[in-house]
Amino acid sequence: MISTILGELKEEVKFGYLKKGHPFRYPVMASVNDGFPKQRTVVLRGTTADFDLYFYTDMRSGKIADFNKNPRTSLLFYHPKKLLQITISGVVTQIVDGSDHKEHWQRVQGNSRKDFTTANAPGTRISNPDEVEYRNNDPHFCLLKVTPDRMEYLRLKRPNHIRALFEHNGEWKGSFLTP
Ligand SMILES: Cc1cc2nc3c(=O)[nH]c(=O)nc-3n(C[C@H](O)[C@H](O)[C@H](O)COP(=O)(O)O)c2cc1C
Repeated sequence: MISTILGELKEEVKFGYLKKGHPFRYPVMASVNDGFPKQRTVVLRGTTADFDLYFYTDMRSGKIADFNKNPRTSLLFYHPKKLLQITISGVVTQIVDGSDHKEHWQRVQGNSRKDFTTANAPGTRISNPDEVEYRNNDPHFCLLKVTPDRMEYLRLKRPNHIRALFEHNGEWKGSFLTP
């Protein structure tokens, strides 16, 4: 039974985001920012057979500074129709060159490429949102790979809610928790 839950969790995360409008495409990614939690919405861009998760960001963004100091993240996925919450904690690897970086940068099309080329670093104060300067030949694209080591599944339903914890130590081991 616990292995069925792990299978469902992985299935939802690995394939859900590929479906149009699926809420798991937009998880919330947390970092530790000067000792405080910080969260932001990101787009899940890919998964691997080993269940690593890929995200894109600007290498000058605040989260990168946070991950340089503490490479751990917690990802929150919520499916409102299924009343399903999944949290995934793990280690973030920053990939700024090499074949995976190149392959993912090639997937970024047209206008989306612009997002990684602002003259000023993301988060720089500006006086007018219509006057952002772009430097097209200077992308700051960073591929983030999250390697999960702890996951929680919570599904609210009657008669019994289902809550389960999975920890990775060579392999995934799961147990049910009191919801
Ligand atoms: C729908 C949506 C999707 C987003 N996707 C991403 C993303 O994939 N990567 C990213 O770095 N920021 C994304 N953002 C912006 C982040 O939420 C955040 O504002 C930005 O990354 C700066 O955060 P930071 O300063 O903590 O790094 C997205 C925002 C929204 C609203």
